Amino acid sequence: MANVAVVGSQWGDEGKGKLVDWLSERADVVVRFQGGHNAGHTLVIDGKVYKLSLLPSGIVRGGKMSVIGNGVVVDPWALLKEIETLKGQGVTVTPENFKIAENATLILPCHGELDALREDATTGVKIGTTRRGIGPAYEDKVARRAIRVSDLTDEELLKKKIATLLTHHNALRKGLDAEPIDGDQLLQQLLDIAPKILEFSDIVWRRLDEAKRERKLILFEGAQGTMLDNDHGTYPFVTSSNTVAGQAAVGSGMGPSSINYVLGITKAYTTRVGEGPFPTELFDEVGQGLGERGREFGVVTGRKRRCGWFDAVMVRQAVKTGGISGIALTKLDVLDGMDELKVCVGYKLGDEVLDYYPSNMTDQAKVEPVYETLEGWQDSTFGARSWDQLPATAVKYIRRIEELIEAPIALVSTSPEREDTILVKDPFSD
Ligand code: IMP
Repeated sequence: MANVAVVGSQWGDEGKGKLVDWLSERADVVVRFQGGHNAGHTLVIDGKVYKLSLLPSGIVRGGKMSVIGNGVVVDPWALLKEIETLKGQGVTVTPENFKIAENATLILPCHGELDALREDATTGVKIGTTRRGIGPAYEDKVARRAIRVSDLTDEELLKKKIATLLTHHNALRKGLDAEPIDGDQLLQQLLDIAPKILEFSDIVWRRLDEAKRERKLILFEGAQGTMLDNDHGTYPFVTSSNTVAGQAAVGSGMGPSSINYVLGITKAYTTRVGEGPFPTELFDEVGQGLGERGREFGVVTGRKRRCGWFDAVMVRQAVKTGGISGIALTKLDVLDGMDELKVCVGYKLGDEVLDYYPSNMTDQAKVEPVYETLEGWQDSTFGARSWDQLPATAVKYIRRIEELIEAPIALVSTSPEREDTILVKDPFSD
């Protein structure tokens, strides 16, 4: 049996929630390895809706270990709130079934404030972030001044680290006309919350190594998508972590050989929230229709998602840069009833046609999609559970996508219900 990493292959919101839940039912351990509470995963189990931002999806199912790895940035207040909400829904969250890496970085109130101050500034590049402090927390991490979970055990160390942190943050805040942070107040806030967080703190790399030796099945749960990856995405319009499956090894403390199968979740069209280039974006009633039928609103911020045609060049790039083994195609039913469908097969840049997405932001904004037009279908694909329940033109669309992105289809998801899935290849059986 194989350990599986689930990642998004576009700009996030590909419908990872349903598939992660479906896979987590069989996994023994579910691990988040990057991002923070910028993610939003909606799970529907027995008609009950659970909204998760930071906790791994396995938490809603009994008998599993849920783990927040070192690669995640953890807002301790947001985490406790999410735990309380889930407990109110009858979910068990205890130190026995939930662990946080002691070397994970904390998101502090000043990170969220800085994120918002920058987004509201009239100068600089507006990213359209979730304003959750994700970027500023990762900045402090790589600059070696972050406060980590294990620091909460040591008041004297915390004092020193806060002093170092505030030298930097208060200088930045001065430049942004914001009040300086009071170090004593921050220390007190952290000391107050420390015991509630530390009860979940663990040596996660060792815990996962034990699980590996006991041949437990591990599911790595990615957040966002490849095109939001800090290296491989549409930089600078990206998130501040690596979202590709390689990060599952680094962000959990397991080696790369622990990941046996990478499942890339891929929407049958494209969406994006926030700013940044989007070559196949539709500004007409076709795009509006996709947004309405697909209910394309963000789980975390409620923002309307931008919609467009399927971009095979971009997904192929995600397959290559992220080592995706197979894809799960989602929301196919949103395309039902359309006369024709377009798929981007290249980018026009000046006189050239590119078969990849350029890395320079000027070129990224300039490229024009080269489309191939495919026939649509009028029948409903909603809830289909086998190939023969799909119209022939829908099968043709899927097969063409498979060919263009150079990765096999492992699953097709045809509704939010978990049973409404066409299974071609079981990722765990690799
Ligand atoms: P940040 O992660 O809050 O810094 O936001 C950076 C970019 O990533 C923005 O364009 C956000 O809209 C986008 N983003 C962050 N998290 C998600 C997500 O879970 N789904 C889709 N987009 C996201």
